[in-house]
Amino acid sequence: MLGEMDEILNLTLELIEASQAHEQYRDIECINLIASEGIKSPAVKEMLRLCMDLESRYAEGENDLEGHVKVRYYQGQKYITKIENCAADIIKNLFKCSWTDVRLVSGTHANLATFKGLSLATKNKKMVVTPLSCGAHISHDYAGLAGRVLGLEMIDHAYDVREMTIDTDKSAQIIRAAKPGIITFGGSLFLFPHPVKELRSVADEVGAYIAYDAAHVLGLIAGGAFQDPLREGADFVTASTHKTFPGPQGGVILADAKSSSVEDAIKWVQHAVFPLSTSNTHLARLPALGVAALELKLFGAELAKQTVRNAQVAGQYLYEHGVKVLGEHKGFTMSHQLAVDVREYGGGKKVAQDLEEANIILNRNLLPYDDQNNRENPSGIRIGFQDVTRRGFKEGDIKYLCDLMLKVIKGTRKPQEVKEEVIAFRKQFNKIEYGFNSLEEVVKHLKNIVGK
Ligand SMILES: Cc1ncc(COP(=O)(O)O)c(C=O)c1O
Repeated sequence: MLGEMDEILNLTLELIEASQAHEQYRDIECINLIASEGIKSPAVKEMLRLCMDLESRYAEGENDLEGHVKVRYYQGQKYITKIENCAADIIKNLFKCSWTDVRLVSGTHANLATFKGLSLATKNKKMVVTPLSCGAHISHDYAGLAGRVLGLEMIDHAYDVREMTIDTDKSAQIIRAAKPGIITFGGSLFLFPHPVKELRSVADEVGAYIAYDAAHVLGLIAGGAFQDPLREGADFVTASTHKTFPGPQGGVILADAKSSSVEDAIKWVQHAVFPLSTSNTHLARLPALGVAALELKLFGAELAKQTVRNAQVAGQYLYEHGVKVLGEHKGFTMSHQLAVDVREYGGGKKVAQDLEEANIILNRNLLPYDDQNNRENPSGIRIGFQDVTRRGFKEGDIKYLCDLMLKVIKGTRKPQEVKEEVIAFRKQFNKIEYGFNSLEEVVKHLKNIVGK
């Protein structure tokens, strides 16, 4: 017993120490360029800290066609219902849509409920998707959620590697031949808009719903800096709330109930949320989700514009210094991400590891011409600029950061030496821009706007 408790004590100490060390390492000493990771303002964090009781609660039930609470099967809900309705209303206001579901605990969960709901609505198990190596998320793929869990049959969009987007004409032919129930757009490697408005009429011809996965670009859409999928004809938008959308980890689905067929599909998607795939919906994130949405309402345009600008400046700078950044003839990117072919420097795995040694954190990534099974050592790296932008990086800072990266990528300096410079540089950015420092500041700011 004593030996066992000794081990438990050691594990507990290790747990606490590793958690403290992680905060210092990733939040203070590293520069984060992982394209899928968002960064929260002090006000959003304060809201999360306020919600420790909510963190223990349940709210199973049904919602209505406005995304509001309709029925709850637990007692003690009077504030929880208000919180969920308020969060839904702020999200609907931000994305100018008539319906949302905020009960999803992640982007994968949003895809699960949407793909399941739409396959039930259409009684059609075929889904047209972007290939994994061309940027789709694993949840869209036959080897992931869509195929292995939901049993959908996947048919690939045609992808234009030079243009780094879906080939509209060829995909139209594929859709007409396959007659899917769902056509998906959006993805994890997502530099340029997908042809939503161009393929809307083809979806109508075959009776398919369009689902657009905005996990990566949700914050850019809110800021008006990327294609607006609902206005271009998507029926459903699924997303994470913690990538370019700088909120707590979670998921969301959006739609405009513009026709009876979308209304019908919303009901199926809600059914797929509850009872099919949730019990606990992780309620404590909802107030923070509302605050993050409000920040984007107020500062999202500026934030999104600077994020894309920073990505483009980095693309140009790295390219001018001999690194193969994809999408050169289109200005490298229209989102927060860059895709870089690093085969001549040892491949994605080596470059990502070397940069990690220098405290620059990003991920290796498949590129469209890679074998999609080679996820261990793909040709590329993906670089995201949403975190550094929110920390206040402007064009000059981005170029300095690129200089640090170039030394490591090209091997002209040892990563360990560059690390010291990275830590010193990172220390210069101690504030979060385009957001609020406290909830008090939020309320003061809003009262000022409305003149109270
Ligand atoms: C396009 C896309 N969809 C869905 C997801 C899954 O999101 P989550 O991690 O919130 O489950 C990701 C994750 O990075 C993604 O890139």
